[in-house]
Amino acid sequence: MTAIHCLNGPNLNLLGTREPGIYGAATLADIERDLRSRADRLDIALTFRQTNHEGELVTFVQEAGAAGAGVLINAAAYTHTSVALRDAIAGTGVTAVEIHLSNVHAREAFRHVSLIAPVCAGVIAGFGPYSYLAGLEALAHLLRGRSPSAP
Ligand code: DQA
Repeated sequence: MTAIHCLNGPNLNLLGTREPGIYGAATLADIERDLRSRADRLDIALTFRQTNHEGELVTFVQEAGAAGAGVLINAAAYTHTSVALRDAIAGTGVTAVEIHLSNVHAREAFRHVSLIAPVCAGVIAGFGPYSYLAGLEALAHLLRGRSPSAP
């Protein structure tokens, strides 16, 4: 069975009340529920985790690697700052897809830089909670051996 760990970084536990004009009304629990139902339909074993701590996010990536799972990651602010996270993705060799609720490229300049994008298979941003569903589908597609250019 395909295994995917969905890893969430800092402040995503505040979704629902956090800057709703940018991030919308869905809570992280709402996102998890919808992702689980999509994962069930795709026959994917889903692990869903959130942390506010950089080192813990690194550990989560390492644990996904040890479990042979793919990584769907919304690293939140650590996307833009964390060399340690980038090294964890590169060092474990996990297949990872970077996701964001908001279109980071339409926001402040510091959000245009992702330190993890170069070590991820691809990036999906700007679709709200649907970014998670699209990312899950894309990652499953890759893990099941389809080349990125195949339909
Ligand atoms: C985010 C975008 C990041 O720039 C920001 O720091 C977040 C959330 C998103 O999902 O849109 O915390 O990753």
